[in-house]
Order: sequence, then C-alpha cells, then structure tokens
Amino acid sequence: MTGMLDGKVIIVTGGSSGIGRGIALAAVAHGAKAVVIGDLAEEPREGGETTGHLIAQSGGTSTFLRTDVTSSADLAALVAAADPFGGVDVMVCNAGIAIPQDGPDISPEMFRKLIAVNQEGALMSAQAAVAAMRRRGTGGSVVMISSMGGLRGAGFTTGYSATKGAVNMMVAALADAWGPEGIRVNAVCPGLIQTALVDSSPAVAAAFEPMRQRMPLRRLGQPAEVGNVVAWLGSSLSSFVTGVAIAVDGGQTAVI
Ligand SMILES: NC(=O)c1ccc[n+]([C@@H]2O[C@H](COP(=O)([O-])OP(=O)(O)OC[C@H]3O[C@@H](n4cnc5c(N)ncnc54)[C@H](O)[C@@H]3O)[C@@H](O)[C@H]2O)c1
Repeated sequence: MTGMLDGKVIIVTGGSSGIGRGIALAAVAHGAKAVVIGDLAEEPREGGETTGHLIAQSGGTSTFLRTDVTSSADLAALVAAADPFGGVDVMVCNAGIAIPQDGPDISPEMFRKLIAVNQEGALMSAQAAVAAMRRRGTGGSVVMISSMGGLRGAGFTTGYSATKGAVNMMVAALADAWGPEGIRVNAVCPGLIQTALVDSSPAVAAAFEPMRQRMPLRRLGQPAEVGNVVAWLGSSLSSFVTGVAIAVDGGQTAVI
C-alpha cells in the first residue's frame, strides 16, 4: 500500500505530547520515511510510552532531539537531524503553550511568554526548515498548528488568541514569500482536542462543556484527526494549497 507521505521526512516540534504526538504517529501511518521529533522533553505530558517508542512499534523510523523552539541554535540542530534521512520535506511548527493566567488582564510577562513560544517559535522553526529546503532546491511544506482561537475571540484566552491570530496572518505572508520557491505554508486550526494542554488549564476545561454541546459534531477531537489533515497538507495531494488556515474543529467555528 502506498501512503500520502511515502518517502517524505517530517519534523514535528512539540512532538512528544498531545497533538504533536498525533501528527508524528499519523505521519508514520501515512508512509513517512522518517519523523524527527523536537521537544523540551521526550516524555509525553499525558504519560505513557514516548512517541519514538510508539513509532518503532508500528515499524516506523524516528529520532528525538531536545529542542526549545525559542532557541535558534536548537532549531538549527533539529533541522540538521533530518539530514541523515535525506533532509526535511515537511516542517510542522506545532509546539505551543496556553497559560492559566491568560485573559484580558494578562501581564506583559505572560503575554511575552505566549508570543515567544506560539508566535516567534513558529516563525523561527519555519525559517530554520526553509533554509534547508532552499539549499536542496526541492521545495517543501510548512504547516503551522494554530487554533480556532486564532479565528474567533474568547476573553479568557486573550493572549493565546492574539498569538494564534498572528500565526494565521504569518502563514499568508510566508506563503506569498516562499511560494515562488515551491514551498507551501498552511495553518491548521484545531478546535477542542483532548490533550494535556486542555486538561492543565481549568478555565479552558470549564469552558469546554457548553462548547461541546453547541458544536455540530458534539464531541472533542483526537490528536490523530489533526494528524491526518497535517499529513495531507504535507503531501503532494495538496500541491495547489497554500496560504490557508484550515479549521479542524468539528464544525465549531462554522456555527453561531
Ligand atoms: N489541545 C487543543 O485543544 C488545542 C486546540 C487548538 C490548538 N492547539 C495547539 O496545538 C499545539 C499542540 O498543543 P497540545 O494540545 O498538543 O499541547 P500539549 O501541551 O499536549 O503538547 C505541547 C508540546 O509542546 C511542547 N513544548 C512547549 N513549549 C515548547 C518549546 N518552547 N519548545 C519545544 N517544545 C515545546 C511541550 O513540551 C509538549 O510536548 C499547540 O500549538 C496548541 O496551541 C491545541
């Protein structure tokens, strides 16, 4: 059986846990040649086996590199870790944080922290990968994991929404800049996905139940459901798609 990602090398930042883990596992399921995982720690936040262990169990190939996406040196090393497999084809800028102290009165320090990881970290990750794609001259695909919070506002996630809205606009700008080189840039905007990020923020968790009841599919999503869309964006099946933000949210942002 052939897969959408046959022969492709994919890097996933924040790939140890949650959605990133789902993206890494989906990439292997769709035939990726290798997955390079960059994260602050190898252990998943939700517990259990490491992503690398699960990939090996399913017959896939991966490597882990301790990476902080706020460090350009870490990101250069992460991208270089894809070279032994042939070089990066797909860069998934997934690492992100939400903070309990978010809201309209968010402090400057907390706001800067969100910007550093969610916004600047995503940009620096993409820049590092594109430098390598450009050297090989084979094009590539960059996928930024944004959020429905970047498409719609919610007071309790004021700072988070600001960073994710910026990611969506960054995707449009970078698609314009890198398109002539055959590099596509898209955003995936997950809705309510069952991960530790959600479970660690009581405000977010409390807000979820009425949202779940209102959303068309009436359930939280699973990381693999985001992973399947990312795999498609990384593959040649989406070869004429760039500069868009795709909601993967059970229809939540489609309704009022
Ligand atoms: N869970 C949701 O419902 C949801 C919804 C919309 C968007 N998102 C986005 O999806 C992405 C993944 O979120 P998640 O829910 O899987 O979260 P998570 O907390 O389960 O996993 C995030 C991973 O990113 C890593 N990380 C955090 N800061 C990092 C840094 N500076 N450098 C490298 N790695 C770092 C963490 O160690 C962790 O492994 C984030 O960008 C988040 O904003 C999540």
